Amino acid sequence: QQSQTQAKLVLLGDMGAGKSSLVLRFVKGQFFEHQESTIGAAFMTQTVTVDDHVVKFEIWDTAGQERYHSLAPMYYRGAAAAIIVYDMQSQQSWQRAKSWVRELQRQGNANLVIALAGNKSDCKDMRKVSKEEAEAYAEEQKLSIFLETSAKSGECVNDLFYSIANKLPKQ
Ligand code: GTP
Ligand code: MG
Repeated sequence: QQSQTQAKLVLLGDMGAGKSSLVLRFVKGQFFEHQESTIGAAFMTQTVTVDDHVVKFEIWDTAGQERYHSLAPMYYRGAAAAIIVYDMQSQQSWQRAKSWVRELQRQGNANLVIALAGNKSDCKDMRKVSKEEAEAYAEEQKLSIFLETSAKSGECVNDLFYSIANKLPKQ
């Protein structure tokens, strides 16, 4: 007998960090070098099975451009989990990620599962954010998950979503 839950999942982070690319890799196994910047938000679903438990993710992929910032609460309200994405090649996107963490800690659900994803790990040579710094920050802020991912190579992308499914309360 399998139990199933639905989980609203929101992706937040600076423009160009790779939110849409992570979702596309996870849901469709695809990657585009010229992924279009998201307007407003995009919605997709994907189901994962952890042991006997099926989690249907209802994924809101938000737009990182600053002018859409005011829409974000619509997407994180009622969310079970959030993935905050930054591009490890960009200090700006790292600063932006930390400001999303602060916003979610203030305004998000009390038991929101927050995952931090340092994306573009295929470009480690160009990194501007060290793994140690991000790891220490995630620990200090008591974030549920920290992973370095690559939507391009697929590294740790499934890990990211399965780790979230694992941390969700089972009903
Ligand atoms: P907005 O929708 O504007 O908020 O951006 P986004 O966070 O959705 O970023 P998007 O997925 O559109 O990716 C931005 C650019 O980075 C695209 O050109 C992608 O091809 C590229 N990109 C995304 N993920 C990776 C990755 O893991 N590695 C590399 N090398 N490039 C990536
Ligand atoms: Mg996008």
